[in-house]
Amino acid sequence: MDFTFWLDEQSNEPLYLQLYQHIKEEIQYGNVGAGTKLPSIRRLSTHLSISKNTIEAAYQQLISEGYVESKERSGLYVVPVDGDIIPHQNIEQHLFEEDWNHEEKTYTYDFRQGRIDLDHFPFSIWRKLSNQSLLPEHKDTYLYGNPQGEPELRKEIAKYLYHSRGVNCSPGQIIIGAGIQQLLTLFGQLMDMKDKSVAIEDPAYDGAKMVFKSLGFNLHPIPLDDKGINVDHLVRSDAKVVYVTPSHQFPYGMILPYAKRLELLQWMVNTNGYIIEDDYDGEFRYIGKPIPALQGLDSAGKVVYLGTFSKALMPALRMSYMVLPKNLFLTFKEKFSAYEPTVSKIHQKTMQLFMENGHWDRHIRKMRKIYQSKHLTLTSGIQNIMGNKVRIIGSQSGLHILLKVNNNMSEGELIESAIRHEVKVYGTSKYWIDKHHTETPMILLGFGGLTEEQIYEGIVRLNKAWFHSS
Ligand SMILES: Cc1ncc(COP(=O)(O)O)c(C=O)c1O
Repeated sequence: MDFTFWLDEQSNEPLYLQLYQHIKEEIQYGNVGAGTKLPSIRRLSTHLSISKNTIEAAYQQLISEGYVESKERSGLYVVPVDGDIIPHQNIEQHLFEEDWNHEEKTYTYDFRQGRIDLDHFPFSIWRKLSNQSLLPEHKDTYLYGNPQGEPELRKEIAKYLYHSRGVNCSPGQIIIGAGIQQLLTLFGQLMDMKDKSVAIEDPAYDGAKMVFKSLGFNLHPIPLDDKGINVDHLVRSDAKVVYVTPSHQFPYGMILPYAKRLELLQWMVNTNGYIIEDDYDGEFRYIGKPIPALQGLDSAGKVVYLGTFSKALMPALRMSYMVLPKNLFLTFKEKFSAYEPTVSKIHQKTMQLFMENGHWDRHIRKMRKIYQSKHLTLTSGIQNIMGNKVRIIGSQSGLHILLKVNNNMSEGELIESAIRHEVKVYGTSKYWIDKHHTETPMILLGFGGLTEEQIYEGIVRLNKAWFHSS
């Protein structure tokens, strides 16, 4: 270790005293722990560009005051400080403590949305392909890459999107980014609007709302009807951009019907606006035919399509993609030509190999069956155990459902009583912009990360918590 700080050559205080004072405080504040070896006089003298005599004088002072001790033929070591370490006076440490809303406590029955099934993750294949990406013959993966993401991976994504999601795009239109929020931020930066406003389904993914707010957009909440976004409301708003989740409304779960999709596209043409289509879990539909993405119906070239590998593969990858229409793509090239990619080239190479070798298609097919079975366990379990005391909402696709619970408990009470039975469930009120709704509370149950046994036992416990807890 070294000491790096500002030595004031103009000060009346000699340099050796400044150095002594700095090291003493580092020891007192606990930044340099007991037993730490101080740098040698020669090394510190080179590092700080001051004379060896100055260092030696500072060290002597520390030795004589008992902060450090000399060990023969080894060097100087920090002596344990008696009593409490003096806290930092100037820094408000509490401001930097981590208080993200990640749960400290773990629950056996945690219905968290965003968890995936790791029991069926192809660990050995992913490890093998990761190793392959790191081989010397792929040594350019160790360097910076294409600002849009690697062309070979974009080619695979374009093929997949066309065959599986009905998205019409060339690899050149795809931008790979570290998460949908990062890509939405990029989209916001591409928008050259005087009046920055965005219409957004109400309720909606809170992560998207946060991005638009932080970019200074005006949010127009658009209510839903039983089939999805209320297009009449959208027409009455003066927004030129709308953010929607047509394949699986978040969090309600309805699938936007064809007729409504056409209305939405008509709105886009009439207003010369944009539709942002967030297809975050379109891979998982359990009932009926797969519904192609809205982007595939767009002949005006104004739909911005977003997809992610977080649900179907793993969230830790932080790899999502955005398909830009022509005019926005040209703006992207003009504005962001000097931007570097946000996703590791090594992960991109691994993902490319995973897709090229057919593992991605196989994985999705396998996971669709697994999640379908979990979904059935959840919905049939709820129906059998709770019957008409609850109502399931949005049960045709995706990795979560909503539950309306009729027992006069508030959202907070439902969550608290579940916790007392070792079950973690999640509220939905944070997803609304307009807080005026006075509905029966709704609970979100994500089932991706739980086994079928855990799902069933979780329902049994929720039933006790909500309907037999007197
Ligand atoms: C609607 C919606 N979009 C996007 C995401 C996040 O996607 P990513 O992990 O690619 O940022 C989520 C996460 O839950 C979501 O609910």
